Formats: sequence, structure tokens, C-alpha cells
Amino acid sequence: MQKPIVVVGSINLDLVVGADRIPQVGETIIGNSFSTFYGGKGANQAVAAAKLGYPVSMVGNVGSDAFGTQLRNGLEEAGVDTTYVNTVEGASGVALITTGLRGENNIVVVPGANGHLTPKLLEKAATILEHAGFLLAQLEIPLETVEYLAQFAERHNIPLMLDPAPARELSEKLLRRVTWITPNESETQELLKTNFENGDQRSYAAAERLLDCGVKNVLLKLGSRGCLIAQGTLAKERVPAFPVSAVDTTAAGDAFNAGFAVGLMRGSTVARSAIFASAVAAISVTRPGAQPSMPTGDEVECFLEQHSITTAQQPSYTEQVR
Ligand code: ATP
Ligand code: RIB
Repeated sequence: MQKPIVVVGSINLDLVVGADRIPQVGETIIGNSFSTFYGGKGANQAVAAAKLGYPVSMVGNVGSDAFGTQLRNGLEEAGVDTTYVNTVEGASGVALITTGLRGENNIVVVPGANGHLTPKLLEKAATILEHAGFLLAQLEIPLETVEYLAQFAERHNIPLMLDPAPARELSEKLLRRVTWITPNESETQELLKTNFENGDQRSYAAAERLLDCGVKNVLLKLGSRGCLIAQGTLAKERVPAFPVSAVDTTAAGDAFNAGFAVGLMRGSTVARSAIFASAVAAISVTRPGAQPSMPTGDEVECFLEQHSITTAQQPSYTEQVR
């Protein structure tokens, strides 16, 4: 039997305004559209993995408001096991998102119920956590809960993938317990407390420094430039992004993490899993919204075929860098 992916993280309702561009501080502009989508980094990763056909359980909180019921139903409809999704008194998490015409966005998250996902609630979910094949976490829940999870993962020898988003400073103790860390460029900057400008040499140096902090494996997400894999002393590998026309990049990172975890759980190599993840993320950016943008397994297979990437060809698609 396949061991499930267990996602410990946030569940949000996304309130999304589409505009020609993101307004500057103090500026008012007229928008083009308003939509609501199911979101939250944790829930997005859970839904993405479930839509790829992998068994997923979610550990998280929704509020006692009307959004809470809708968010839980959304997870279940996508095939996510919600046995350990708690309903707590008060508001569900929400994210206020503005997207521009080139797919760019900015986001303000109000955690609501997600802020009450305590280590005590994880203790209650111990049965499912113990049986996880892979644990996935992000930083939209209390840091002490992520730290508890990391300790749990280490104690039970279960790999943990941490998406350090939204960016914040993390202790070396936590980083040492993480199997895969998957920051984007701004998160890398925050983790390393240094400016991280575009450019391959800088990405390699940043990945190297993250390894020096004690993380076992690093996967830097570089937006439309793809991603960089760094594992100990192995040669780093860069996987280019697929050339697509982006309409909304919200949750590209979540799509990527889910695809990567599913790839590894199915026994693919790291490089092949990263290519699969890039395809999942590329499809997601061509569609609006967070969870509705996540592709099914068949859609990803079809996309890879269209881009002439067969399983046999996949290794040569990556570029090794020393
Ligand atoms: P988000 O916060 O929007 O969820 P992120 O900032 O965590 O995303 P990104 O680096 O922007 O992560 O994107 C993750 C992955 O998605 C990239 O490594 C790439 O494979 C894919 N991706 C992102 N943007 C594009 C794009 N415009 N075209 C193709 N692929 C993209
Ligand atoms: O990663 C994208 C997600 O970030 C959105 O769905 C929003 O809810 C915020 O949590």
C-alpha cells in the first residue's frame, strides 16, 4: 500500500482582484475582476498532490464561519482526506490577492484559524503523521508547530519538505531537521539575510550556503527561470521552466512542491521529479486561481508528451552545473 503524503499547513479562502498591474503604495487603481478561490499554501499542496492521483491527508484548521465548511468540502471534492482538519471557533484564514496582466501577484494573508494549529493538535493527529511517506509543511501556521513537526519527522525517520513561505528567519536546529527546503528567490534572501539578485552564479552560491546551514537537500524555485537542485557534494542541476504564457502565478510554488513530492514518492529520481514538478507548475500558471489551477495526472502526462519529454528523455533535459 502507498504511504500517504501528509500536508500540515494552512487552508485559506483567496479573495482575488485582477487588475492591469499591481498598485504602488498609496495608489488607487481600477480593477478588472473579482473572484474567490480555495487556497492556502498547505491546502493547495494537498489538492495538487491529490489531483495527481496520490493519496493525501491534510492536517489543518478551518474556522467556524461559512468559509470553513466550503474549504473543507473543496478539499474533499479534490480527494484529500480531511479526518484531521479541525473546525475551530472564529474566522477561517483568508488571503487578499492582487494579480496583474502578466500573471504577477502580491498577497496579504490573515491566518485566522490557521494561527490556532498548535502542536497539541498535531499530537492528536499522531496516527496519520506516523504513517506518512512524506510530510509537507509551509510557514502559514505557527512556527512552534512546524518545529514540533520537524522533531516528529526526525524521530520517526520520515522525510520532511519545508516550503519556507511566507519568508521568515528559521533556526539552524529546524533547518537541520528538514530533508528538502524549497525557497523561492525572496525567501532565499530572507533565510540567508542577504541580497539574492538574479543570476545563475548567485543561485548556486545561495544553494551552497543553504546546505552549509545544515539542510540536507535544497531546491531553489526561480520562477520562469526554473529551479536549481543542490544535494550535498553532488553536482547541482538546473531544470528550466517550460515556456508557457502565464496568466496567474499564484500557487505555482505549491503546484511545484506537490509535483516534486509525488514524483519522489512514486520512485522517480530527483531530476525527473523536478521536471514533473515543473510541468505541474507550468500548467498551473496558465490558469487562474490557486486550487482550480492544479492539473490532473493525465493533463501532466499529456503536457510532457506535447513538450517531447518522455520518461526516457527526461534526464537529458536537465543541465549539470559545478
Ligand atoms: P508562488 O509563491 O507564486 O506560489 P513561488 O514564488 O513559491 O510561487 P516560483 O519560483 O515563482 O515559486 O515558481 C515555482 C515554479 O513554478 C518554478 O520553479 C517554475 O518551474 C514554475 N513557474 C513559475 N512561474 C512560471 C512561468 N511564468 N512559466 C513557467 N513556469 C513557471
Ligand atoms: O501560495 C499561494 C497561496 O498563498 C494562496 O492560495 C494564498 O492563500 C496564500 O496562502
